[in-house]
Amino acid sequence: MAVLPIAKMGAEVLKRRAAEVTDFQAPELKDFVQDMVDTMEDAHGVGLAAPQVHSSQRIVIFFVPANRNAGVEVPLTVMVNPVITPLNEDKNEGFEACLSVPGLTGLVPRYTHIKYSFRDLNGVLVEREAKDFHARVVQHECDHLDGTLYPQRMTDMASLAFTDVLQAEAERDGRELELDEEGT
Ligand code: NI
Repeated sequence: MAVLPIAKMGAEVLKRRAAEVTDFQAPELKDFVQDMVDTMEDAHGVGLAAPQVHSSQRIVIFFVPANRNAGVEVPLTVMVNPVITPLNEDKNEGFEACLSVPGLTGLVPRYTHIKYSFRDLNGVLVEREAKDFHARVVQHECDHLDGTLYPQRMTDMASLAFTDVLQAEAERDGRELELDEEGT
C-alpha cells in the first residue's frame, strides 16, 4: 500500500475526461483503490478522484463525517463510473477546498439535492440520494472525472482566497470561520 503523489492544478491529467472502468476483474484495481484511500487519509481529505493521483480512470472515493450530514455518517465509499442527476434546480453556495488546489478556498454553487449511481468494486450497481454537503462532495469529486476543478464552477472569483489568510483575519476579528477545511 502506498501514498501516491497528488496532481496539482495545471497538470494535464486534471483537464481531461477520465476513462470508464470496464474490467472489474483486473487484479490491480483493488490495490489502486487502496492506494487512493492511503493517499486521502495521509492528506486528511474527505474525497479523492483517480485523476488527482495521475490516473485517468472514472474512480472516486469519499466519506462524509456525521457532523457534516445531519448526524448521519456516510462511510467510505468507492464509486466507479459514477453518474449524477440533480433532483431539482436548487443550488446553494459553500466554500470548497481541493487537494489539487492547495492552500486556497472559494465559494462554489452546487445542486443541493441529487441522486447518484455508480458501480462498486465488484461491478454491482448502487443508487443513492444526497443533500447539501454530501451532495456537494459527490459533485466536486465527479467534476474531477470530467476535467473540471472547483474554481471553474465559481461565479464570483472575488471569494477565492488563501485559507490561512481567512483564518488569520477571522481570528483577529474574533469571528468563527465557517469553512470546509477538508480537502477533496
Ligand atoms: Ni478536488
